[in-house]
Amino acid sequence: MRDVSASAPGKLMLLGEHAVVYGYPCIVSTVNKRISVTVKKTLNKQAFSDSIYVMTSVRMFIEKYHSGSSFSITTSSDFSPTLGLGSSSAVTVATLKALTAYFDIALSEKEIFDLALKVVRKIHREASGFDVAAAVYGGTIYYKIERPVEKLPERKMPLLVVYSGIKADTSTLVNQVARQKKYNPAKVNNIFSQIGDLVKMACDAYNKFDWSRLGMLFNKNHQLLVELGVSSEKLNALVETAIKSGAYGAKLSGAGGGDCIIVLYKNNQKEKLIKVLTNSGGQILDVL
Ligand code: PMV
Repeated sequence: MRDVSASAPGKLMLLGEHAVVYGYPCIVSTVNKRISVTVKKTLNKQAFSDSIYVMTSVRMFIEKYHSGSSFSITTSSDFSPTLGLGSSSAVTVATLKALTAYFDIALSEKEIFDLALKVVRKIHREASGFDVAAAVYGGTIYYKIERPVEKLPERKMPLLVVYSGIKADTSTLVNQVARQKKYNPAKVNNIFSQIGDLVKMACDAYNKFDWSRLGMLFNKNHQLLVELGVSSEKLNALVETAIKSGAYGAKLSGAGGGDCIIVLYKNNQKEKLIKVLTNSGGQILDVL
């Protein structure tokens, strides 16, 4: 067996977070940062990694394909796992791709996706899999649970990614929304259905390069996430700063509570926005 490496990209949620867990669509894009995994032949050594995603991928892969032998597994990443850019799904997909290449098992993208989703759901039962889809298929994707992934055409969006400096806790926020949905289903279902509708409109705006309309939909999506109770003072302050400084629109990206906001800017505004957002405590990430 020869040594092999494989990689997968991180992701950026554009619109539709939380609602996607309940069967509504979302739009997700990949970033230009990746995680690589290398599988090497060793003598009498069981693969070990301190990543639960790598270890669960190895275990489930071996269970499914009855492939044994001793190998080592190492990972390297272009980005920090604290940014909320999908390091867990990227490392899971990269591990499975490296293992299939190492054991010479030909799997389709759909088969890799299905297995990677099983791995991720072993660790987070409620995960929608949008980040796994991005890591497997790449590009910009319209994603809905249990539906074939729809790849959107490539568009260079005028987008800034701004880290809030705070790490989001996805599981806690997803559980918080689930509790809220249980106690106030009418309110939460109404928010989700509005998010679902605006994701569809966002697809159309994206396809037509209509950044002004897409920005408006970012703002509306952010407001609905505020109503859902998943935003934070810091995220709201960054979003407000961006909008007040003339951006087309801005919203939190991901589970909320922290991680990043995304900002759609008008052509001549980029430098100004970088300045005001940095002065407001945001960190501009070079990931697109
Ligand atoms: O926290 P992130 O960036 O992994 O995004 C979570 C998105 C949710 O919709 C809240 C959860 C999910 O699995 O889709």
